[in-house]
Amino acid sequence: MTTTLITGANKGLGFETARRLVAAGHTVYVGSRDAERGRRAAERLGARTVLLDVTDDASVAAAARTVAADGGLDVLINNAGVEGRTEDAGVIGAADATADAVRRVFETNVFGVVRVSHAFLPLLQRSAAPVVVNVSSGLASLSHASDPDSPAYGYPGVAYPASKAAVNMLTVQYAKAFPNIRINAVEPGYTATDLNGRTGTQTVEEGAEIIVRMAQVGPDGPTGGYFDVSGPLPW
Ligand SMILES: NC(=O)c1ccc[n+]([C@@H]2O[C@H](COP(=O)([O-])OP(=O)(O)OC[C@H]3O[C@@H](n4cnc5c(N)ncnc54)[C@H](OP(=O)(O)O)[C@@H]3O)[C@@H](O)[C@H]2O)c1
Repeated sequence: MTTTLITGANKGLGFETARRLVAAGHTVYVGSRDAERGRRAAERLGARTVLLDVTDDASVAAAARTVAADGGLDVLINNAGVEGRTEDAGVIGAADATADAVRRVFETNVFGVVRVSHAFLPLLQRSAAPVVVNVSSGLASLSHASDPDSPAYGYPGVAYPASKAAVNMLTVQYAKAFPNIRINAVEPGYTATDLNGRTGTQTVEEGAEIIVRMAQVGPDGPTGGYFDVSGPLPW
């Protein structure tokens, strides 16, 4: 059984992933940027909790120290993410995509993944079977975004798909750099969570499936790939 850290696990897909991994017998840290939300989620799940804001160097470093002191880490799930909607809840389209607006989304979705990965890689390298799951999105696929027959084609946002495309490239580059770690990007599918005002058409149980599966791949499993529940996706 492994020890797993899930960022942004106090609700949504991260919470459901934690629930499934706890049920499978794993030790799970619920990462939460708010101590009380993390404590409540962990209590419901029978999990541990660690305070972790992916946009904050000191918070991430402290979380890494805590997890190291408690015995280390086998699986890191970079799940925390934001869509970066405007005040009237619209997605940030090309006309509104200021550098500040895009930077805010990248700060969590991209630099957050880099910050957390950098802090936890030394712990993962001490594991016998280390795994990283980067929660990407189907909207990250350049192939789908440029294919008029794909549902992703019609998504007007700029910041969110660009940030997740960057996560996909991080996945490829980290996977090559750390061949002993299984590192994959996953697309949960359009899932009803707070991220999209609960407009998603899947349940969190359905959405978490590929995250849970990739969190449990063995040393012979894939690395450097991009998957949804049905298999590999085009970049
Ligand atoms: N829902 C979908 O249809 C869908 C589809 C494809 C990919 N995804 C991806 O799935 C992941 C989970 O999203 P979700 O749908 O479950 O959304 P959600 O319910 O809104 O959950 C997002 C989680 O990320 C946390 N978070 C946000 N900023 C953070 C920060 N700076 N530091 C730490 N945690 C932070 C949130 O914490 P707070 O409670 O403190 O805000 C929350 O726990 C995201 O990466 C998202 O892009 C979702």
